[in-house]
Amino acid sequence: MIGPGSFISFEGGDGAGKSTQIKLLATALTRAGHEVVVTREPGGTEGAEAIRDLLVKGATDRWSPLTESLLMFAARADHLEKVIKPAVARGAIVISDRFADSSMAYQGLAGSVGADRIETLYDLVVREHGPILTLILDTPAEEGLRRATADDGETRFEEKGAAFQYSVREAFLTIASSAPKRCVVIDARAPIDAVAEQVMKAVEQRLPHLFGR
Ligand code: TYD
Repeated sequence: MIGPGSFISFEGGDGAGKSTQIKLLATALTRAGHEVVVTREPGGTEGAEAIRDLLVKGATDRWSPLTESLLMFAARADHLEKVIKPAVARGAIVISDRFADSSMAYQGLAGSVGADRIETLYDLVVREHGPILTLILDTPAEEGLRRATADDGETRFEEKGAAFQYSVREAFLTIASSAPKRCVVIDARAPIDAVAEQVMKAVEQRLPHLFGR
């Protein structure tokens, strides 16, 4: 997105350690003098959090992949309008734990919806307001599933099984190679500090102006 601020997204399979890395990056950017808005999808607004509850709880077959996509993009439309666009317009840096690449990976490529229909929804809802930088935290699917906490009742996606998680990982790598200017793949199996170093390096290289360079 072009604006005084910037929009950065983090993506990856379940349990890739996104929230830890987001906190570390947010601290570094705040120290560099920026207003940082940390948010997440599905969610980020009152309405989108209500939609999130519908999505992450309940039986795995509660929604078809197409219905899931429509709910994700409905939540995203609210999130963009009420949080992301206003923050970028006033010069803040928005960091979102997941964004539209998750719809492409989970519903479009690993699910049965297909890339074309996700792109159509993207053109309708996101247009030029998508992230300028996307950090994809890559872990082997089995390891991510092991790390994903299943004690919060938000188990619907984790229960889709190892084969699905494997396809999700492949999907993120496909997305990264089709958008190399925007996406950076980071090996998330490394210790937290080493991953954080890779994240900082990517942000400094791709968005040097955030550090006054
Ligand atoms: P999240 O809470 O980020 O899960 P985790 O902390 O395990 O990474 O997201 C909840 C689930 O929603 C996650 O399994 C991925 C899925 N999801 C989609 O399938 N499509 C989407 O567009 C988004 C944003 C998330």
